Order: sequence, then structure tokens, then C-alpha cells
Amino acid sequence: MTVRVAALGGSLLRPEVEDRQAWLRSLSESVRDITRRGIRLVLVVGGGAPAREGIQLAEPLIGEDVAALDRIGIAATRLNARIVSEAISCAGIEVPDTIPESIENALLLAAENAVVIMGGTVPGHTTDNVAIMMACALEADRCLIATNVSHVHSADPRNNPDAIRFEEMSHDELREIVGPPIHRSAGGSGVIDPIGADRARKAGLPLAVLDGRHMERLHACLCGEAFEGTNIEG
Ligand code: UTP
Repeated sequence: MTVRVAALGGSLLRPEVEDRQAWLRSLSESVRDITRRGIRLVLVVGGGAPAREGIQLAEPLIGEDVAALDRIGIAATRLNARIVSEAISCAGIEVPDTIPESIENALLLAAENAVVIMGGTVPGHTTDNVAIMMACALEADRCLIATNVSHVHSADPRNNPDAIRFEEMSHDELREIVGPPIHRSAGGSGVIDPIGADRARKAGLPLAVLDGRHMERLHACLCGEAFEGTNIEG
């Protein structure tokens, strides 16, 4: 049985995304098509705007207790996971009522359900690492990281017009860009969580980074087809 795991960046649900309802509808159609092909899915949803807002609100009170701020971020990931889950369920696709809160519970649900939707688990990493942990545990052939940039770049393309974009790269090259596996702050977001990148490198798990706002790219990759984005392996 083929299983595909994707981290859906919370940025895909942010208010500045042009038509979030249309995106959620097309996600439901993609999930319907993929499950009809007999592919199982685990979608791990990021915290996006509620994570940023919650962490900003609490940070002046909480100060440097990163784990406390992480717990606020985790709550936001679960809120977004619930939104995605209800949207997909309303489209007539069977999803479990539960949003699993640990890898163990998510694996139990994945054994019995074609689609599992979850957010974060514990402090100290982001949903990218959660998705990579699930992909490793389920022996998926790769883990998708759907974000709001088209590719991994040599620098942030939003502030650096000369940034080089990669279609293909190795895990070692990715490590040069994301840095060592350290969780420095809550809500701080690079293209991929360095803790997840390190786990994927050690496990030899290929990663696919793509712009999830373009549902056709996300869908192609979830179907195991050629996709526009960065393929990281080797
Ligand atoms: P995200 O997974 O959304 O991380 O979790 P991100 O990369 O900062 O944000 P996006 O995907 O670009 O929107 C938000 C925050 O929640 C905490 C971390 O502080 C993370 O930065 N978190 C999340 C955890 O501590 N553990 C988890 O399992 C998930």
C-alpha cells in the first residue's frame, strides 16, 4: 500500500492567500482523487497566522521560555488541522474525527484510515519534522513540504533577487542552507525545519519542496508524478 506524507505550511491558510476557500476545495478534490487511486495520505498542517499571532501576543509575557511558546504554536497547528479536516470531511471524504496529538496515535489512526490529518506533537521542532517522522515511520518513498515558495533557494528569494533556485539538490547541500539541527525559537520559519532536514538526511528519505498554493503541483507530487519544485535526495 502506497502512503504519502505532506507537511502543509500554515502559510497556505493565511489571510493573504487570495482565495483560501477555493484552495481548501481543491485540496479536498485532490485528496478524493488520491484515495481513489488507493494511495493513503497523512497531512500535517502548520500553524500559520494563528501561531504567529499567538506567539507574538504571549512572547513579551513569557520571554525566553521557548517550550511555552512552542505549545502555543502547537495549539495553532491543531486549529488549522481541524479546519482542513472539517473542510475535507464536508466534501464527503471519510476522515477520522480525532486530530492525533502524538506520532504513536497518528500511526494507529493511519493503520485504519486512508486519510489522517494532524498538526504538531511536542515542543522543540515544527510540523515539517512531524511529517518527516511520519514518513520515516510509514516507510513512505518521500516527504512533501508544501510551502509558499516555489523551490529551495540559496537565500530567501523575497529579499534576495539573486538567490539561485534548485530543481535538484542533495541532503548535504540542503544542510548548507538550513544549518544545523537546532530549534532556536518558536514560530521562526525557514524553508524547511533544520531538525527535519537532518532526520531526512540520516534516514535517506527524499524530500520534495514545492509551492502548495499551486494545487496541481501538490497533487502531481502526491500522486508520485513529476512536479515543479525542488527534489532533495542523495
Ligand atoms: P509550524 O509547523 O507552523 O512551523 O509550527 P513554522 O515553520 O514556524 O510555520 P509555517 O509552517 O511557516 O506557518 C508553528 C510553531 O509551533 C511550534 C513551533 O514553535 C513552530 O515554530 N511547534 C509546532 C512545536 O513546537 N512542535 C510541533 O510539533 C509543531
